[in-house]
Amino acid sequence: MNKTTHFNLNHQIRNLEISKIRQFDDHVSTFEPLIRLTLGQPDFPTPEHVKEAAKKAIDSDYSFYTRTAGDIKLREAASAFAAAKYELSYDPESEIIATVGATEALATTLFTLLNPGDYVLIPSPFFSLYDSLVKMSQATPVYMDTSETGFMVTPDLIEKTIQSLDKTPKAIILNYPNNPTGITWTEAEVKGIALTLSNYPKMLAVSDEIYSELVYDDTHVSLGKHLRDQTIVINGLSKSHAMTGWRLGLIFAPELITFELVKTHQSLVTSASTVTQYAGIEALVNGQDDALPMKAAYKERRRVVMQTLQELNLEVTEPKGAFYIFAALPKGLKMSSYDFCYGFAEGYRVAMIPGDAFGAAGEGYFRISYASSLEDIKTAMVRLTDYVNTLRK
Ligand SMILES: Cc1ncc(COP(=O)(O)O)c(C=O)c1O
Repeated sequence: MNKTTHFNLNHQIRNLEISKIRQFDDHVSTFEPLIRLTLGQPDFPTPEHVKEAAKKAIDSDYSFYTRTAGDIKLREAASAFAAAKYELSYDPESEIIATVGATEALATTLFTLLNPGDYVLIPSPFFSLYDSLVKMSQATPVYMDTSETGFMVTPDLIEKTIQSLDKTPKAIILNYPNNPTGITWTEAEVKGIALTLSNYPKMLAVSDEIYSELVYDDTHVSLGKHLRDQTIVINGLSKSHAMTGWRLGLIFAPELITFELVKTHQSLVTSASTVTQYAGIEALVNGQDDALPMKAAYKERRRVVMQTLQELNLEVTEPKGAFYIFAALPKGLKMSSYDFCYGFAEGYRVAMIPGDAFGAAGEGYFRISYASSLEDIKTAMVRLTDYVNTLRK
């Protein structure tokens, strides 16, 4: 769609592309019925006790603005949750902000950090919002291709990229467990990154840890634990508590940075929804392990997808977290990711996301989201087998 107006609207916005995920979704949406392995949201309902807390908040007329950074009870709950789960230590009063989803947390953070012309390191493939927000800030994204290192962000890669630039970047955006690859990091890997970044004390790390509760065989280690002074931790309840539509995110950052972040947050949204914040208090206080049953279901779905991909001999790294699998197109196939996925949707009525929706380093891959029912996933895998075998003939 190439619409334009004669008004001289903001150049950064005009140059932005609608997310390729959305574009692909729109393009294949006429192929109904369609099994969608495209969505980045849990297919589970929000836990009952969380819904009850929200209903109670409505009935109690909790319908006014909260404090800008969020109701203090929510921030206390977030502080306690982060301490219990990830050994983090953030002061509820001065170092935590409740936001409108992780999306606003990222927007608030990047708009606060960046000056025009700043460099921001973005490991690629990446969640496309990062790119848009950096460009909206008139800063310059510097992509680091991780496809050669098994989608790992290595200290070496960071070091080499920084050395190749004419000035030190302002920030790096990290995301683990990762969308789209499902890769996550061990404590030793987190420490390695922290050590490298500590050599650049003027750089900040924006660490998007929204999938922290969905790490399969280990526990999540936050960058905030090992690089507290330089890190802004982004998290939220969208994935951990199946609350994407409630829009509740969290920022954890050192006091002096939070002081500035609050100004941006206030200008953008005033405060997060009050009813949602009450639901959030319940989720964080009494639902600390709400993600566990979902995680068990995701694990089984991951097994089914992995088995098919391995039987098909497709190159894939087993994801250790989140609910995505990023697999390579069949070797030798002269086809773009887009055409591969489009052909599958058209011929077999299953949608997956072409890898280039996550940056140039994603070309040659496709992303499967296994946040769909096991039944749909099984059907989709039978069809994928048929599709790949047909293409190979
Ligand atoms: C890596 C990553 N960060 C942030 C978000 C946005 O989360 P929220 O829905 O809380 O805004 C998503 C959503 O898919 C995501 O995958």
